[in-house]
Amino acid sequence: MSEFHPNIIVLENKSLLNLFTRVRDQTTPPAAFEFYAKRLMTILAEETIADLPLATSKTTVFTPCAEFKGEEVDVDKICAVSIVRAGDSLLGCVRALLPGVSVGKILIQRDETVPEKPAKLFYCKLPKGIEDKQVILCDPMLATGGSAAKAIESLIAVGVPVSSIIFSNVVCCPEGLKYLGGLYPEVKIVTASIDEGLNEEKYIVPGLGDYGDRFFNTV
Ligand code: PRP
Ligand code: URA
Ligand code: MG
Repeated sequence: MSEFHPNIIVLENKSLLNLFTRVRDQTTPPAAFEFYAKRLMTILAEETIADLPLATSKTTVFTPCAEFKGEEVDVDKICAVSIVRAGDSLLGCVRALLPGVSVGKILIQRDETVPEKPAKLFYCKLPKGIEDKQVILCDPMLATGGSAAKAIESLIAVGVPVSSIIFSNVVCCPEGLKYLGGLYPEVKIVTASIDEGLNEEKYIVPGLGDYGDRFFNTV
């Protein structure tokens, strides 16, 4: 839980510190950034998948020695939606863990030259039946919250209940959490870090710079 958002899980896995140190370091070259970011996002994706009550059911299995009461995840009850472009990196990790999962894409871009301008929606392709699934919204960065809010609007517009959306995120900050929490408190957030805040260019501090540029080596 956090003072900035009513419905948030902040990961505390010990393995994150080393991985975050690598991806935050501005001298980490693109191939290494991708390598460490994928390891980090795989942990995030696993923890997000573990938090999908509508797609999870109790089950009993038998070990060679005894009964075990567990849980299983039904991939058919899940849809993973990325906010293109950076969100595609996290989507890749979710898909690796949930082969065959239904996928949607929403292209939303900020105008980096005018930080105050609202993020713009360019494209939205969502699968039929998404309104009956639990939606993992994938975007590694939550800064002002403008992009995530637009993506959530697009999901609501096709009938997805807000309570079925879980936002999976690598780094967020108080500004974005307060903005999203005010608009959509029912959308649960699973994040790997709450950073200090935003700078004048609306980049997260300390953050890691432009996630999409670094992950896809668009520099
Ligand atoms: C980045 C990031 C988020 C958004 C977060 O995307 O991936 O989608 O900014 O910022 P916000 O919370 O202030 O909206 P960007 O628009 O830079 O596009 P990219 O994914 O192509 O890098
Ligand atoms: N998008 C990024 O990639 N990084 C930030 O710090 C903010 C938005
Ligand atoms: Mg984006």
